[in-house]
Amino acid sequence: MKVNGVSYRTIWRSEADPNQIQIIDQRALPWQWEILTLTTWEAARDAIRDMAVRGAGLIGATAGYGMSLAANAAPVSSMEAWDHWMSAAAQGLKEARPTAVNLAWAVDRQMSLLRTEHELNSRASLAAKEADQIADDDAACCQQLGQHGLELIRSLAEKKTDGEPVRILTHCNAGWLAFVDFGSATAPIYAAHDAGIPVEVWIEETRPRNQGAALTAWELGKHGVPHQIIVDNAGGHVMQHGWVDLVITGTDRVTRTGDVANKIGTYKTALAARDNQVPFYVALPSSTFDWDLVDGVREIPIEERDESEVSMIQGWDSIHQTPGQLRVAPEGSRCRNFGFDVTPARLVDGLITERGICEASESGIASLFSENFENKEN
Ligand code: MRU
Repeated sequence: MKVNGVSYRTIWRSEADPNQIQIIDQRALPWQWEILTLTTWEAARDAIRDMAVRGAGLIGATAGYGMSLAANAAPVSSMEAWDHWMSAAAQGLKEARPTAVNLAWAVDRQMSLLRTEHELNSRASLAAKEADQIADDDAACCQQLGQHGLELIRSLAEKKTDGEPVRILTHCNAGWLAFVDFGSATAPIYAAHDAGIPVEVWIEETRPRNQGAALTAWELGKHGVPHQIIVDNAGGHVMQHGWVDLVITGTDRVTRTGDVANKIGTYKTALAARDNQVPFYVALPSSTFDWDLVDGVREIPIEERDESEVSMIQGWDSIHQTPGQLRVAPEGSRCRNFGFDVTPARLVDGLITERGICEASESGIASLFSENFENKEN
């Protein structure tokens, strides 16, 4: 997507040194534009853990590049030495954040491919190619799912009169910043906007880290998509008044049965949508399915982050012209900081994927991805 007229992805190879990987430091947005350079797998791990990069697809792509950086430094004296080094890197990357399944998916994709190459000296270049492929696949899937979601928005636009906009509510940031490009929840929105369909987006701010207010608003604004930010607790209110035609969120992990883990607060948004008969859709590339899990509430690991993200709020200090933090809770009060929640499949009206839109159920998902259901017990 474009930032001030220049096309960017969220992760790319440095032009000066293709062995170096560059990322946009998302902790600085929307106030500052900063690029970080990663040269080791540990730096990739830290970027994921400290949320310089975040969002399921981008976490996966960064892990793919992290494995490539690890392979660049891996000893090639013996198979055992290589395996020991790469297994430690794989484990370290996987432990950086627990909920988005794209992370483990990308690491495992790299490891299983690299083990098929018997010439140890060739594995680093293979890992580099595969990292690029993981990033390209992520962007292609998002672009493709955007075309399927566009048809959903177009069908709502056809029911409008006098060029009224389709009003879409989203939560957190499942935009291009959360992927390599295009985004998941935002891909249909960008596609509709670019096709001349009037759209307006309600963005839930998404405490505690405010990915909605800081990131989704920033990227929609850069693309010229009309939007308004609301506090998380206002979602039910705007739906109750008939001001929302459609909810689209992203997700960090979807079970084979259609349960959806996404940023904390998504479950309440889905409940409000169901109570107000507002269609609730979830957009994802297939790398976000966890084909092994059946019960999202019990089985998906939910990240719990530092309580300071709840007791403090981050923003732009306009007096000192710098990012700053303010305490919003009394000293001594304990806080809990659950990063994600699970929306049961029964509250999800459909899953928008690169292969089309399906029901959030085992049979619905199998209708598009049957190869992942073969040889598995129901
Ligand atoms: O904690 P984050 O910022 O990595 O959370 C991810 C999200 O932004 C969302 O929950 C998103 O909808 C799914 S990731 C595309």
